[in-house]
Amino acid sequence: MTTLTRAPTITSTETVERLAIDGGPKVRATPFPPRRLFGEEEKRAVMELFDRSIQTGEAFGYGGEEERRLGEEFAAALGGGFADGVNSGTSAVYVALRSLDLEPWTEVIVPPITDPGGVMPVAIMNCVPVPADCAPGSYNTGGEQIAARLTERTSAILVAHIAGIPVDMDPIVQLARQRGLPVVEDCAQAPGATYKGQPVGTFGEVAAFSTMFGKHFATGGQGGVVFTKNEERYWKIRRCADRGKPFNLPGAKGNVAAALNCNMDELHAAIGRVQLRKLPGIVARRRRLALALEDGCRRRLQAVRMLGDPPFGQSSFWFLFFEIDASQLKVDKAAFAAALAAEGIPAGASYLHSPALAPWMKNRRVFGSSGLPWENSAYRGDQHPSYPLPNTLATDASHFLMPLHENLTEREVADILRALEKVEKAYII
Ligand SMILES: Cc1ncc(COP(=O)(O)O)c(C=O)c1O
Repeated sequence: MTTLTRAPTITSTETVERLAIDGGPKVRATPFPPRRLFGEEEKRAVMELFDRSIQTGEAFGYGGEEERRLGEEFAAALGGGFADGVNSGTSAVYVALRSLDLEPWTEVIVPPITDPGGVMPVAIMNCVPVPADCAPGSYNTGGEQIAARLTERTSAILVAHIAGIPVDMDPIVQLARQRGLPVVEDCAQAPGATYKGQPVGTFGEVAAFSTMFGKHFATGGQGGVVFTKNEERYWKIRRCADRGKPFNLPGAKGNVAAALNCNMDELHAAIGRVQLRKLPGIVARRRRLALALEDGCRRRLQAVRMLGDPPFGQSSFWFLFFEIDASQLKVDKAAFAAALAAEGIPAGASYLHSPALAPWMKNRRVFGSSGLPWENSAYRGDQHPSYPLPNTLATDASHFLMPLHENLTEREVADILRALEKVEKAYII
């Protein structure tokens, strides 16, 4: 575990306030402000769509002007390329992978920590998900950890930029090139994050974004976007997002591949276009708040640090991770987070969303009780493999998390720092 050295050690003459968890007064007695993600502009965009529909008598559907423009605007925001709106981030991952035409019973490297929707599409395509470990001290995987899991059966590498912190992409892209493997970037938690000055999502063959209401920008309650710089791939994406319709295949008749209907509709695209215009401001405000917190932790705390920007990029901070140095504290990170929560600061103990630990994967509940995709003679790998994740477990053991949104203010930053300081003082050895 990293030993943190910064602020001077607290001396025994300093007073320790009684923690709220022990019956003392809370640092923060009122709830944090709501996010207020949607406003009048989104409402207007939706109303305009309805007005048009009522006026013309034509229902708005999908694959229309709003979605076309959302795709263009989204791609332009990433520096150029092609984007297709879909109905969720899970669908975006599915469509991204489906567009690669992966053979069943091949293996796809998946992130150690991610939302289930970022991995389930692999198994649903009858490919075997192979979790790579985290890079040390990180929630993201790394080139070395992926290299350790590659086999002759690997058909793709899927990475996720967790919590808005960019993955160290260069070693992964280099490895993928050497092995002739496509990289899929899951950017669900990281729109607006950059790696070496370039937006995440522009390093792999395809990128998937979630635009559900909890993300940096939303197309409504649900949604997603698939992005690529490769026009040919884009047309495959379009086909795979809409039941294999023969888009851009002149002369082709009928549906050319089996795929799901993952279309985004016009209503969601209209909301998304307004939100996309707000995204730079959202990311800038999140960064300002997060970096102020990181700086405050560095200056005022001894045994707790916040994960800020990695040396190779800028985070867009979907939520925040804090690392504790347990050797300096009387409690573990779960007890520390519980004490913070009691102070009125939203803190969670763990983000161990690991596909390898999930019941659906452990119990192989993908296609009834068949055990597919693992248990089939066509699969040449170990049918009962073990994928130890020591770095992932070590990272989880030393980190807790905190939600963040762009509508927080300096007051919340001050309260968070004050609570962190109070809890640290109470628990420091
Ligand atoms: C990394 C990651 N991938 C995929 C998803 C799935 O997105 P959705 O919830 O929009 O289906 C999420 C959702 O949180 C996510 O965080």
